[in-house]
Amino acid sequence: MNPIIAPSILAADFANLQKEVEMLNASEADYIHVDIMDGMFVPNISFGIPVTEAINHHAKKPLDVHLMIVDPDRYLQAFRNAGADIISVHYEACNHLHRSLQTIRSLGAKTGVSLNPHTPINVLEDVIQDIDMVCIMSVNPGFGGQKFIENTYTKVSVLKELILKKGADTQIEIDGGVNMENAPKLLAAGADVLVAGSFVFNAPDPVKTIKDLKSIQVV
Ligand code: DX5
Ligand code: ZN
Repeated sequence: MNPIIAPSILAADFANLQKEVEMLNASEADYIHVDIMDGMFVPNISFGIPVTEAINHHAKKPLDVHLMIVDPDRYLQAFRNAGADIISVHYEACNHLHRSLQTIRSLGAKTGVSLNPHTPINVLEDVIQDIDMVCIMSVNPGFGGQKFIENTYTKVSVLKELILKKGADTQIEIDGGVNMENAPKLLAAGADVLVAGSFVFNAPDPVKTIKDLKSIQVV
């Protein structure tokens, strides 16, 4: 089995987005990871709904939209309309996570929940069955190109155990600082989906880098 690869468009050349999306279309990428930052939940602003729509206009792969925004319920419908196939909200940004997940499902999208590095896995115990994908942040959200946090491996194992214990069908996504060195260890620990921003877009040959990540065998 091979991993699911989700290059993060945050590291792309925004002045040439169409070209960058077409490069991903032609690659072995499975999803396009779209980082939305509001300058409140995280100390950075990326882009919003019109740019997501523009990406979707050219994308031939599902959009994996990662909402790093306060009170994401306000924008779930808008991002679904903009083309989001998977919508991830942050556990730390939701007062009523279960309700947010129900809303995402009712909109026909897959449900995702992201956890900051300081948030333990056990907070998801009672909602894991409602989550299609848990996104473990392996950096503090807000910026691309940061250093991978080593404690992530332990979190992946703990989450895998929880998923198996509850008989849930949840995928594990890793977001931040993913590269060819940590990817095999993450997959061995139980990860299914790898987000990679700078590692892909700063590479001399992004299509080949995506292929290299995709070729890692998961045992
Ligand atoms: C960080 C974002 C990540 C980011 C990953 O807040 O959620 O998706 O784009 O970028 P790299 O792979 O460069 O760490
Ligand atoms: Zn992300």
